[in-house]
Amino acid sequence: MKAFTALSIGLLSVASATPIVEEARKLQRGTPTLSPATTVQATVSLCTQYAYYAENGYEVLNNLWGKDSATSGSQCTYYEGASGDGIKWSSDWTWQGAPDNVKAYPYAGRILTKGNTIAKIKQMQTAVEWSYNTTSNVRANVAYDIFTAEDPNHVNSSGDYELMIWLGRLGGVWPISQGGAPIATVTIAGYTFDLYFGYNGSMKVYSFVRAGNNDIKSFKADVKLFFNYLVTNHQYPQSTQNLIVYQIGSEAFTGPPARFSVPSFSATYSV
Ligand SMILES: *[C@@H]1O[C@H](CO)[C@@H](O)[C@H](O)[C@H]1NC(C)=O
Ligand SMILES: *[C@@H]1O[C@H](CO)[C@@H](O)[C@H](O)[C@H]1NC(C)=O
Ligand SMILES: *[C@@H]1O[C@H](CO)[C@@H](O)[C@H](O)[C@H]1NC(C)=O
Repeated sequence: MKAFTALSIGLLSVASATPIVEEARKLQRGTPTLSPATTVQATVSLCTQYAYYAENGYEVLNNLWGKDSATSGSQCTYYEGASGDGIKWSSDWTWQGAPDNVKAYPYAGRILTKGNTIAKIKQMQTAVEWSYNTTSNVRANVAYDIFTAEDPNHVNSSGDYELMIWLGRLGGVWPISQGGAPIATVTIAGYTFDLYFGYNGSMKVYSFVRAGNNDIKSFKADVKLFFNYLVTNHQYPQSTQNLIVYQIGSEAFTGPPARFSVPSFSATYSV
């Protein structure tokens, strides 16, 4: 087991997939006590704009959509294999300049079947654990991003509605709002959030932001409960809104070389 642990750490520190597999094979030839090859997951490195990888019903994207506002910086995102009934992934980034602009949103998302309205979906169980290796000067959030739209074939980079659940808020970054103040403080699934509302273009954005400066590093909930809250309190039209994306990531604004790690993320839904 010790050899396997050392191998796993070695895998994470290498930057491209092919050499890692070779390294793993070499180690296995030389160390007969290692686990079988099928349990060794090579890290997949995604370093270019929108580099993408999908496996096990999930996708991981190195999304650098706001990078042009940076004076300098770079980011790589890594798919690290299965973890329980979900996946393990991470992202290394550094961005400088324009402190209030999002540079990137490295994310992992559930691959969805089109045409399921929120009303039809009974449950959206999810669990995640995350950490940053440093918080000093890091401006970023850690947030679920869930788009819904009346058109089941809506592009998956926006929607009619955006539901965000901010588990982390580092360096004083702000959600979209009207006037900067929360519209409510609510407790859902045992976690307390300040709720912000605003528009991004014509998209209505509801951001549930963890209250009281306490980042939620380990989260487990049914996201349907957040939609239920919006149905009850904000006339959210669940019978005509289709689920378009169901993902979690970190919106990176600025900061020194930082590593965002997600040792486990799972997101399921049932209709
Ligand atoms: C989002 O759209 C892109 C491009 O059309 C596609 O490659 C990707 O699989 C889509 N993601 C999901 C979760 O459907
Ligand atoms: C606004 O929406 C666009 C997609 O339409 C998205 O790329 C961008 O991240 C959103 N801006 C914010 C601040 O959330
Ligand atoms: C955090 O991770 C980044 C990227 O791997 C690394 O460059 C940096 O040195 C790490 N910082 C600390 C404080 O460990």
